Amino acid sequence: MNIVLIGFMGCGKTTIGRKLAVRLGYRFIDTDYQIEMEQNARVKEIFSRYGEPHFRALETDLLKRLRHLDNTVIATGGGILTTPGNMELIRQIGKSVYLKACVEDIFERISRNTKRPLLQTRDPLGTVVTLLEKRKGTYERADHTINTGSLKMGHIVTRIIREL
Ligand code: S3P
Repeated sequence: MNIVLIGFMGCGKTTIGRKLAVRLGYRFIDTDYQIEMEQNARVKEIFSRYGEPHFRALETDLLKRLRHLDNTVIATGGGILTTPGNMELIRQIGKSVYLKACVEDIFERISRNTKRPLLQTRDPLGTVVTLLEKRKGTYERADHTINTGSLKMGHIVTRIIREL
């Protein structure tokens, strides 16, 4: 079985995914990192050189290739569900888990770095609010939803294991 973590930027997919993989003895893949390795460029550079549609095509191409995996935890980029058809690919890969976080927690986590091209705006908080509103319906299509709230990372991992 594979587990696919979805959710907005800064909801902890990578950190939680890595811990979850250790607990389950699974392999861990982060789609952003995998794309960066394959393209030999940072996500930010891919966006600025080739544009967002190109990055989205790379995400879909990777998802197609991940279908043959087993016993893997996959952390996805926060915009992966903006591409029609990707949720169907994720269903073919495994069980999906939406890590739900509130705007405040998201903003607290993402304001610390500049690696996310979509948030390099004059009003990053406003951008988070708008994007989250636009995307939340897509995340809610996941098989499971975990309200991360004030839970510690370790507790979130335990919750996910209990839910599956
Ligand atoms: C994006 C989220 C990022 C990364 C890219 C675009 C998005 O991943 O894929 O910057 O559109 O929400 P994280 O969710 O890991 O930050």
